[in-house]
Amino acid sequence: MPQFTRTLVTTALPYANGPVHLGHLAGVYLPADMYVRYKRLKGEDVIHIGGSDEHGVPITITAEKEGVSPRDVVDRYHRMNLDSFSKCGISFDYYGRTTSEVHHKTAQEFFLEIWQKGIFQQKTEKLFFDRKANRFLSDRYVTGSCPICNNPEANGDQCEQCGTHLSPLELINPKSKLSDATPELRETMHWYFPLGRFQEQLEGYVKSHEEEWRSNVVNYTRTWLKQGLQDRAITRDLNWGIRVPLDSADAAGKVLYVWFDAVLGYISFTKEWAEQQGESERWKTYWQDPGSRLVHFIGKDNVVFHTLMFPAILMAWNEGRQSGCYNLADNVPASEFMNFEGRKFSKSRNYAVYLGEFLEKFPADALRYSIAMNYPENKDSDFSWQDFQNRTNGELADTLGNFIKRSVDFTNARFDGQVPCDSTPEEWVALGIDWPHILDRLDEAYEEFHFRDAASLGMEIARAANRFLTVSEPWKVIKIDGEAAARTMAISLNLCHALAIVLFPVIPETCNRIYAMLGFEGRIEDRVIPGTPLFSQLLYPVLKKGHRLRATSEILFTKIENSAIAPELEKIAALLVDAEKREAGAEQSRMEFKPVISFDDFLKVDLRVAKVIAAETVKKAAKLLKLQLQVGSVTKQVLAGIAKYYTPEEMIGKNVVIVANLAERTIRDELSEGMILAVEGEDGKLFVIEPSGNEINGKQIQ
Ligand code: 2FM
Ligand code: ZN
Repeated sequence: MPQFTRTLVTTALPYANGPVHLGHLAGVYLPADMYVRYKRLKGEDVIHIGGSDEHGVPITITAEKEGVSPRDVVDRYHRMNLDSFSKCGISFDYYGRTTSEVHHKTAQEFFLEIWQKGIFQQKTEKLFFDRKANRFLSDRYVTGSCPICNNPEANGDQCEQCGTHLSPLELINPKSKLSDATPELRETMHWYFPLGRFQEQLEGYVKSHEEEWRSNVVNYTRTWLKQGLQDRAITRDLNWGIRVPLDSADAAGKVLYVWFDAVLGYISFTKEWAEQQGESERWKTYWQDPGSRLVHFIGKDNVVFHTLMFPAILMAWNEGRQSGCYNLADNVPASEFMNFEGRKFSKSRNYAVYLGEFLEKFPADALRYSIAMNYPENKDSDFSWQDFQNRTNGELADTLGNFIKRSVDFTNARFDGQVPCDSTPEEWVALGIDWPHILDRLDEAYEEFHFRDAASLGMEIARAANRFLTVSEPWKVIKIDGEAAARTMAISLNLCHALAIVLFPVIPETCNRIYAMLGFEGRIEDRVIPGTPLFSQLLYPVLKKGHRLRATSEILFTKIENSAIAPELEKIAALLVDAEKREAGAEQSRMEFKPVISFDDFLKVDLRVAKVIAAETVKKAAKLLKLQLQVGSVTKQVLAGIAKYYTPEEMIGKNVVIVANLAERTIRDELSEGMILAVEGEDGKLFVIEPSGNEINGKQIQ
């Protein structure tokens, strides 16, 4: 295990084509912020780099929809997202933009370095071209029917209904989203990154980390590695993006693929940060010194870009170099998703709560706490208004806020605003508060990215403290035993201080307010001296006899009334009614039969009984099974999207119905010579139609 002396934390760059929502906050930005805030309190050298992803098709599609320029779109959403993050206390050291000059230069440098080493391949391929719009169509600009589930509105890169990753060429009846025209295939040349060339190196890299990476991260990555890494086009025919930095005619009109450019944004923004610090070379320490640790916070949909693509780009840069080599990520804590009231957040359906709008109505720390307690670490979690209200009122207001206020108010009223006596670590142990153990648990929770545990531990201490104060009843005891009441208050005030430090990464603004009430000047984060962990101070009571509190206290959390969340619940109800209507509409449209066909047309469809004689899974297509079918004396190969519902072994020996005269198609480089019939049952599960009878193989269905 290398000994790291500094940490570079990066957070996925959100596309600047819309406002960030609570799902983004839960999966990426809040956990990263808690992590860096904790490390800063430990006195470690850590920086948090993030920014806006401002290139690529998501931006141009939004611009076209809104009838404005891509520049207008990214300017608007960059500002909006930066503002929301800052209101939520996400403490970036730098928040950049991929449209910056430094970034364009950095990405072009990477392209040239790898190009000069002869690593890229140039390939000419046929892509869809929209003649009306006079441009090539990247995947997301093409729509059509899914070859696996027949969804008529599949996208060129993925079918949202069955989740299959597609290429636009696999769509049935493809249409251009720009003009609705049927696009034509035209040849175009692109540069490809040969990911397979780095397969072995990447396997070694992943293996060396699989013990400490989360299992979801290892599994996604391993699935890709098992399928064998393919060449990936890293340029596009698009007029928005970073120009391919070559003067040759074939580079005209080409830009770098957004994923090639976005991950390099982490480097460019660290350069910009260093420049801003007045130490322009300092970025190198974070990227190139082996004593620096690189940690990428992302959502689960971005895993392979960070565990395979980006490392491979860096490996290509590092190849053959004696100096200026980049570190690869040491960890990639990818989250699962956070749902909203039981359903997936969906920007396109407007089923989301946007961070900026939320913070106009409710305090940031209440949100941070509630989200931290629902952090989607190993499985998808849920945000609900009820849970948010319960946690704010019960845990933050009644437990934490009440304890702090009672401690400060009673000391101000009865002990002249001063800590009445010293307290000792032994007294704390007697209360069951074993600080060395608590601090170890806290450290483990943060260092191993268990953010829910970290937040829960803070609340556990607040509960214990509140219980202690209530049971000790200093307001009664003071009448008979002033010293005992003084001891209770000295312990309580030290617990207030400890809570301000322990909960700081989760609810920083509140903790600074506690800190101020306890009579400290300045902010907690400014008190950290590099190399001096603020946490270790908690081993001893910090507030000594005579320490003076601020004369006034404040209510830390106001309870959220039912009337405040009622409009939100109404909005959800309306959105759910919409969703149900849509689903009912979809059901109804399923009952609207297709247009009438003649008997002769029907006779054209050759339906036969076939027997499955062999079945296997398909590389690169987790949803497909490759079936060998015996149809009378003929053998046919058919690809069927049923891998989720049947294992190859279950299929072997089954009688099925095949459309035997369907035109051949190639799906995932495999020939499919027909189609087997299946019906969708409960929960979307597919059941293949299994005809029964004697001697029926090869017979026509009539
Ligand atoms: O999925 C997304 O929203 C991408 N914009 C994330 C990019 S992460 C990194 F590469 F910058
Ligand atoms: Zn589909």
